[in-house]
Amino acid sequence: MPEADLYCVMGDPVAHSKSPRIHTLFAAQTGQAIRYEARRVPAGQLAGALRAFRAEGGRGCNITVPLKEEAFRLADHPTGRVLQARAANTLWFRDGIHADNTDGIGLLRDLRQNLGWEVGGMRLLILGAGGAVRGILGPLLEQGPELVVIANRTVRRARELAGEFAACGPVDACGFEALAGRRFDLVINGTSASLGGELPPLPEGLLAEGARCYDLMYAARPTPFLAWAAQWGAATSDGLGMLVEQAAESFCIWRGVRPDTAPVIALLRREMGG
Ligand code: ATR
Repeated sequence: MPEADLYCVMGDPVAHSKSPRIHTLFAAQTGQAIRYEARRVPAGQLAGALRAFRAEGGRGCNITVPLKEEAFRLADHPTGRVLQARAANTLWFRDGIHADNTDGIGLLRDLRQNLGWEVGGMRLLILGAGGAVRGILGPLLEQGPELVVIANRTVRRARELAGEFAACGPVDACGFEALAGRRFDLVINGTSASLGGELPPLPEGLLAEGARCYDLMYAARPTPFLAWAAQWGAATSDGLGMLVEQAAESFCIWRGVRPDTAPVIALLRREMGG
């Protein structure tokens, strides 16, 4: 039995991260000898944590809140996706720090392959303009939506983000109040409002016939956003599938083997009691 290669997720908080469970399931399924830990690393301390981890023989890591932008700044070899998002969630070490961002591709795999929801040609509304949205905008725009509107409580942040991605496709920014009278086919909640049991103020009539609503957060019970969407008859999904898909992309980068995500999503869903 070869000695297991060491990986981890770094972030703060990280105690309840599902990444160790997901990667352990992937490793068992594909016969890869890896060990995967969760390490709490406060903002501003990523460089030191990575040095220590590499000294222990660490091969690669996932990066979560609040360190994704810091990881981008520390990367010696960022992929185009990282340069575009200015945020990284997957690192590996070989002649320096390599960095990729698998959040956007993970979301697209969940939307298109698992749910059968297309983005091309759709009127797309994204709620929020923080780190979570930064990672998914480029890959969503690459799908050729008719229009992407970023709505945020702090309109300035939405405008900044739309400005950064203007060259990638038709992207616009506004505050929630300016959504009145507009209609969308796909709405993605990237705010952290659900964490506090809150819902951004959304107008009536926002959802077009057959609209779909996706929350980047996941929970055993519907988030306030998904409960709102279901009440208007929309198809809904939380972000558990995206979580597993972005992990599968990382695993594939590290190990060169693509795990089967469907049984892992189903198992986690059962364990969550959902
Ligand atoms: P993350 O990395 O999770 O995206 P973030 O960068 O702090 O975290 O961004 C959080 C996002 O959720 C922001 O868009 C934030 O809006 P502001 O930019 O106005 O702060 C949004 N958000 C958080 N709580 C919210 C609430 N109760 N209602 C609406 N938006 C909220």
